[in-house]
Amino acid sequence: MALVGDEADPGHSENAAPSTFPEPERRSRDAGSEQEQARRHERSCAGDPGVAEDHHTSRRSAHTPIMRAIDPRASRGRSGANPLWGSGWPEVAAHWTLHPDVAFLNHGSFGATPLPVLAAQNAWREQMERDPVEFLWRRLAGRLDEARRRAAGFLDADPSGFAFVPNATTAVSTVLASLDLRAGDRLVATDHAYPAVLNALRATCARTGAELVLAGIPLPPPPEDDIVGRIMDVVDSRTRLVIVDHVTSATALILPAAGVVAACRGVGVPVMVDAAHAPGMLDVSVRHLRPDYWTGNFHKWVCAPKGAAVLWVKEELRDRTHPLVMSHGAGQGYAAEFDFQGTDDYTAYLSVPAALDFMASLGWERIRRHNHALAAYGRRVVAASLGTPPVVPEDRFGSMALCALPTRLAPDQETAQRLQLRLFEDHRIEVPIAWWNDAAYLRLSAQAYNAPEDYERLAAVLPTLA
Ligand SMILES: Cc1ncc(COP(=O)(O)O)c(C=O)c1O
Repeated sequence: MALVGDEADPGHSENAAPSTFPEPERRSRDAGSEQEQARRHERSCAGDPGVAEDHHTSRRSAHTPIMRAIDPRASRGRSGANPLWGSGWPEVAAHWTLHPDVAFLNHGSFGATPLPVLAAQNAWREQMERDPVEFLWRRLAGRLDEARRRAAGFLDADPSGFAFVPNATTAVSTVLASLDLRAGDRLVATDHAYPAVLNALRATCARTGAELVLAGIPLPPPPEDDIVGRIMDVVDSRTRLVIVDHVTSATALILPAAGVVAACRGVGVPVMVDAAHAPGMLDVSVRHLRPDYWTGNFHKWVCAPKGAAVLWVKEELRDRTHPLVMSHGAGQGYAAEFDFQGTDDYTAYLSVPAALDFMASLGWERIRRHNHALAAYGRRVVAASLGTPPVVPEDRFGSMALCALPTRLAPDQETAQRLQLRLFEDHRIEVPIAWWNDAAYLRLSAQAYNAPEDYERLAAVLPTLA
């Protein structure tokens, strides 16, 4: 099922968030044996650092019982507290305009843009409407250059290989269209690839006679070297491109992108890293990674306005990589070719620096630490309520975590879809349910505006849905 180099952290150490969080078992007085079993399994799989952290957390746990009764009409964040973020969290969360009734656990699909960034985009739009010709014709190129420079700096990428595109979906299709494929050629991806990417690969194969080969990566995931091995096992002299996700969509798994890129480089096979989720979630250095092609979204974990992404291409491949739409800048160099593909609203690109500034003002280090710890907490509390073992070890996911759903709740894809809708319509919980390799999974996102009670609310509702 479709789900649908860092900048300097400007001195936020005084706000440093505690890196631990109350363990669900510490907070529960009546955890069932099934739940206890699941937790034991999790600790043995994941080397759960939370166990060693109990002494830090037990004091707080006395005041925040797990599975407290949740009033579905209550506002998101109504307690005004998020001990993991620390003081000042209500002001941070208030930057987002998400519906107060909804426990929004799906930042991963489309991101969510905070008010200061929306204000920056509005300011660009106002300028555009004051004089569209001045804005689009005379000023846009220079402003895009400046935004590109900032965004490339954030990703530690050479700006001359950096083109703005609306989204990762477009980036993948752009790269596939640039390949000179023939019958018998191979394209390689994994069975975790994003559905639209798989569709683009299949359509490309149908058009050219190339063959798509998917490397299978089971869950729970094998060690990273093994994953690289499984991908390289299906790469051969016919392979024209490997696409590897940095963070998978349906399964929220961090794949060893660097290992795959290095292995492909070793055998001279081009590789595209689909890092749709990486900017903002992971510390990215495109320069160190050295991929052939790299795409990432700013509208997800950088919280830029919708429709802001990058397609980075290494120097040798730039003159054969063209936008899907012929532009005014054709023939003027890689980045310029992508800049003006007809009349459009380019303010999402121009607002990327504002998003970078806003998130940096909260502290990238702090955001990442918070989001990971909260995703891990959410997973523990939800898995405890479901009685399912963990699927992905804690050091193999970032700001999104996966929980297996028991078969009785989602025996097939259609039931899984209905369950997702029910959670939203009846309980005001926005959480995606992925159907992957014949099983259903909840994918929990954690962003700065989320608090433990969002996940506790889900955990309280799930047992009532059988
Ligand atoms: C791995 C991966 N690739 C591509 C995409 C598509 O991103 P977009 O909708 O911005 O094109 C996603 C979206 O979640 C994704 O997770």
